[in-house]
Amino acid sequence: MTIALCPGSFDPFTLGHRFVVERAAARFDEVIVTVVVNPNKQGMFTVDERIDLIAATCSDLPNVRVDRWRGLLVDYMRNEGVTTMIKGLRSSTDFEYEVPMAQMNRELADVETLFMWADPRYTHVSSSLVKEVAKLGGDVEPFLPPVVYRAVMAKVNGEMSV
Ligand code: PNS
Repeated sequence: MTIALCPGSFDPFTLGHRFVVERAAARFDEVIVTVVVNPNKQGMFTVDERIDLIAATCSDLPNVRVDRWRGLLVDYMRNEGVTTMIKGLRSSTDFEYEVPMAQMNRELADVETLFMWADPRYTHVSSSLVKEVAKLGGDVEPFLPPVVYRAVMAKVNGEMSV
């Protein structure tokens, strides 16, 4: 059984993330999307909210499950029997950022990192840019799954605490 891990902050989960998860799900028996908890970073969404939004967005992908982790990802992968990590790349900047982590994870636990090229429609999309644009009144609907878009607008409009 081949299991792949798609880790990230996912604050929030974008259509760029969805593209990577969908393609991973077509190539592995199971995909675990893991929200990595960073206690030093206050997000727009709580970890529970992020998990619910990812689960709703990926409900049509039966071999995808959503989880959370706090700590070294290689420990999580060892616990879950996962040997492959998938990272989406949007640019050479992403590549420069990801390579040292891939190398470190390989040395720590023989974890293989596979890079997946982003959908060209979303190479400019990041969770942080989407939040900034939304807070300043720009239209972020084209970059988000519908359920995530509604949740972001609810946060921005003060219906959920930001
Ligand atoms: O969506 P992000 O914020 O770019 O995701 C980065 C993330 C969470 C995947 C990265 O920070 C990470 O791997 N954190 C887990 C802690 C860990 O294992 N650190 C060592 C990396 S070599």
